Amino acid sequence: MKVDKHIENLKPYEGGKPIEELKRELGIEGRIIKLASNENPLGPSKKAIEAIKGVAKNVNFYPDGDCFYLKKKLAEKLSVSRDNIIFGNGSDELIELIYRTFATDSGDEILYCYPTFVEYKIIGMSFGKKLVEVPLENFAYDIDAIIEHINDKTRVVFLNTPNNPTGTVIKKNDIKRVIDSVSDDALVVIDEAYYEYAIDEDDYEELLDIYERGNVIILRTFSKAYGLAGLRIGYGIAKDEIIDYLNRVRPPFNVNIVAQSAALAALDDEEHIKNSVCAVRRGKSYLYSEFDRMGLRYVKSYTNYVLFDVNRDANFVYRELLKKGVIVRSMVGYGYKTMLRVTIGTDEENKIFISNLKEILNV
Ligand SMILES: Cc1ncc(COP(=O)(O)O)c(C=O)c1O
Repeated sequence: MKVDKHIENLKPYEGGKPIEELKRELGIEGRIIKLASNENPLGPSKKAIEAIKGVAKNVNFYPDGDCFYLKKKLAEKLSVSRDNIIFGNGSDELIELIYRTFATDSGDEILYCYPTFVEYKIIGMSFGKKLVEVPLENFAYDIDAIIEHINDKTRVVFLNTPNNPTGTVIKKNDIKRVIDSVSDDALVVIDEAYYEYAIDEDDYEELLDIYERGNVIILRTFSKAYGLAGLRIGYGIAKDEIIDYLNRVRPPFNVNIVAQSAALAALDDEEHIKNSVCAVRRGKSYLYSEFDRMGLRYVKSYTNYVLFDVNRDANFVYRELLKKGVIVRSMVGYGYKTMLRVTIGTDEENKIFISNLKEILNV
């Protein structure tokens, strides 16, 4: 079978093993704590669970391809028009749709920073695009360097705020500078997957109105604070012209019936979001104080994860934590050879993580 070189060079996504399998392989008797994928440890909203049960009997029907009720509710919540919203099978799918809709020419360039959310690169490689990576400066976006790398061929610029895996944010004025630097044919993507956590921080600036400024799309998701990662649903907010183009390329039934019902119910459960955000705030300040006590450097995070420095081979510490049943993310593959990223868990999970870390580091 012959495939193009850019497909040949791709490596399939390696997901983590199921927890039960990992327990068996590592011979772990107790519980496994997964703090690796920035999920919500409190689970989904109870209202969402009820909605999921309620809709189970309807899964013989195709879903509503327009997400009518969900779009109506979200449009009201955000004070935007229905025509400014698109839903995707996770925001991952929207990233792919953006490529398929707006970066269709072989000479197109895609710009993002490094390290950032890995899907911008993986999807770009699958389409054989020219990918321009601008390194972060001291864990944050280097806006002057981004602007220097923008040219007439730049079709999409991905800005991830707060950025995964650093947890740092981009100032609104800096985002505007990037928007003003791209050509009329380029799209600026503002990926705010961790919006609900970020907006809880005093100095995080609301970015929603920025979509009116030009060729901009804001991406958000139900996978993180809403706790619906397993259902795959995210959304984009943009001018109606951009949404209209994306809808032409979007598969007709891309968001399943269960995800739509759960997201609709989750939007009504503000208490659940409040509790989730509170748990993260509490967990973060606990981790910060423990890291301080251990003399470990960390990056102040606007999200539900923290990047921190273990001052030795991060893969070694990652593996030792794994043996103790705690799964975090090693940052060695991202070029941070002594750093790990840990998702904030429940209070109990955070304590278990810290006590195991202390044991391993002998501090
Ligand atoms: C920055 C960022 N964007 C997008 C996503 C993907 O979210 P979804 O589950 O909606 O596809 C993630 C998931 O980790 C992320 O970290």
